[in-house]
Amino acid sequence: MCGIIGIVGKQPVTERLMDSLKRLEYRGYDSAGVATIVDGKIERRRAQGKIRALEDRLLNQPLSGTIGIGHTRWATHGAPSERNAHPHTCGRVTLVHNGIIENFAELKGELTAQGHSFESDTDTEVIAHLIDRQLSLGDSPVTALKNTLDQITGAFALAVLIAGEDNMIMGARRGSPLVVGYGVGEMFIGSDALAVGPFTNRIAYLDEGDFVVIDHDRAQIFDASGSAVDRPIKIVSAAAALVEKGNYRHFMEKEIHEQPESCQRTLGAYTDALTSRTLPTPGLDFASVDRIQIVACGTASYAAQIARYLFERLAGLPTDVEIASEFRYRDPALLTTTLAVAVSQSGETADTLAALRWCKAAGLRTAALVNSHESTMAREADFLWPTHAGPEIGVASTKAFTAQITALTALAVTAAVQRGRIDASQEAKLVKILLEAPRLIAASLKTEEAVRALAIDTAKARDVLYLGRGPMYPLALEGALKLKEISYIHAEGYAAGELKHGPIALVDEATPVIIIAPHDSFFEKTASNMSEVIARGGRVILFTDEEGGAHAPAGVRVVIAPSSDPLITPLVMSAPIQMLAYYVAVQKGADVDQPRNLAKSVTVE
Ligand code: F6R
Repeated sequence: MCGIIGIVGKQPVTERLMDSLKRLEYRGYDSAGVATIVDGKIERRRAQGKIRALEDRLLNQPLSGTIGIGHTRWATHGAPSERNAHPHTCGRVTLVHNGIIENFAELKGELTAQGHSFESDTDTEVIAHLIDRQLSLGDSPVTALKNTLDQITGAFALAVLIAGEDNMIMGARRGSPLVVGYGVGEMFIGSDALAVGPFTNRIAYLDEGDFVVIDHDRAQIFDASGSAVDRPIKIVSAAAALVEKGNYRHFMEKEIHEQPESCQRTLGAYTDALTSRTLPTPGLDFASVDRIQIVACGTASYAAQIARYLFERLAGLPTDVEIASEFRYRDPALLTTTLAVAVSQSGETADTLAALRWCKAAGLRTAALVNSHESTMAREADFLWPTHAGPEIGVASTKAFTAQITALTALAVTAAVQRGRIDASQEAKLVKILLEAPRLIAASLKTEEAVRALAIDTAKARDVLYLGRGPMYPLALEGALKLKEISYIHAEGYAAGELKHGPIALVDEATPVIIIAPHDSFFEKTASNMSEVIARGGRVILFTDEEGGAHAPAGVRVVIAPSSDPLITPLVMSAPIQMLAYYVAVQKGADVDQPRNLAKSVTVE
């Protein structure tokens, strides 16, 4: 949620602030703003809506200055208006903020009683008032920041400019990530590596509770107690710096097509193609684990639900998957022999992180299966299970989802070996099947034309039902989520067996029923469900393989994906399902990469 950039530069910074904000726009796009220091005074430009609107504003009212901060907003407190757009100012202080200040109402009341007046409805503005109040009490800027941090509660990241201090930006993180970028005679802070990627590949990740002061040449980092600390400088890959759409119309389209490579890269981290063995996680033996508790949100939770079938069937390992926002508040009874696993693309989702911390505090061993390898979850969990999808910019997750399934499938095979459920030759057989996944995903992308044709009719629907059995049930849930989030068509995913228990009442000729059913052990039962829908005048679209296509009841429109072993069928079936949502959204003229009300990384509850 919300993107932050700050530059202490040698050259004018506005263009680079804007470049960075465009890269961060996936984090939120309700409003955007920049501020710089010009002749000791802070100037700001803000605009409601996307970065484009801010660009237009800057054309009419350019902004000079060699030091500045920028922000792209996903609104939490206060409507998405220019008035509520960051940066927020009070006296000498101008700042941008990602996250939520939980005690802002109380602080605002106190400040108002002291005569402060506010120009926005945001929680953020309170921080500017607090820092300014500390400055007027005689604090130095750093002490004013520290004293303010001690007064606020919640999860946040900040970048702060002080009028008159034109060689300094301060930053702080608690709960939301913040990185420091080291340039040559220039320094940066940003929400993630993408923010500073084009300017430097030397990055330090602030730890929880840290605050920082950057000037032209250095960063002074302090921990929550105010003691000076060093955080290691890492060299980040060029991939983080170079995220472009290439020849694709949308990031989502590009990311769907990147799945053969992202699956391949992820497989490389969990399997050895030469020996056909999986690669165990150092320090973790699944034989010592009695249960797996996966916590995740949204698409990541559906990847986890698919994996549950494998951990249980292959490795005989009881596995629960729970939505993190529910898990964290129900005081779950846990045993310390349970391995807690957080699945998350960003590694920053507030609820998933809180659930992971809850498990850790309860004495469980924890693993983070994340695509952002330097994220908070990655750093806090006992075991890091990386996915190698690369930066995912489209708000609707696609390649991160299949990378999660890939990694979890390989881990289920490892678990099966370590728990003595399969021997080396069975492991080799499963690894060889897994290694076929990139090729078969590539082949399934060839359904594109067929899917695009189906999208024309589907785009006219008001409601769509998705059905699947076994591992295709979570994929049905994912299909429905993808469609609703980018095309705004109401869609529901159901276990096909549940059809008769209620949802069949929705079936009519206007409601497409999308059934995901490869020709596996469930196929016949699902075929009966198709017939039940057709008998009631419903329209069935079947995503299946060749054999399934040959056995489809009459009257069904069929998309044929390549046949595959059930171990990897969820991976092979994902691409056509994602493409349907994509082409329906394109057909409807929707904003595919930045759907309304959403943001890529949900760092607030
Ligand atoms: C949907 C989508 C979301 C995320 C969810 C969790 O396309 O992307 O449902 O999956 O917000 O995000 P991460 O994986 O970053 O924890």
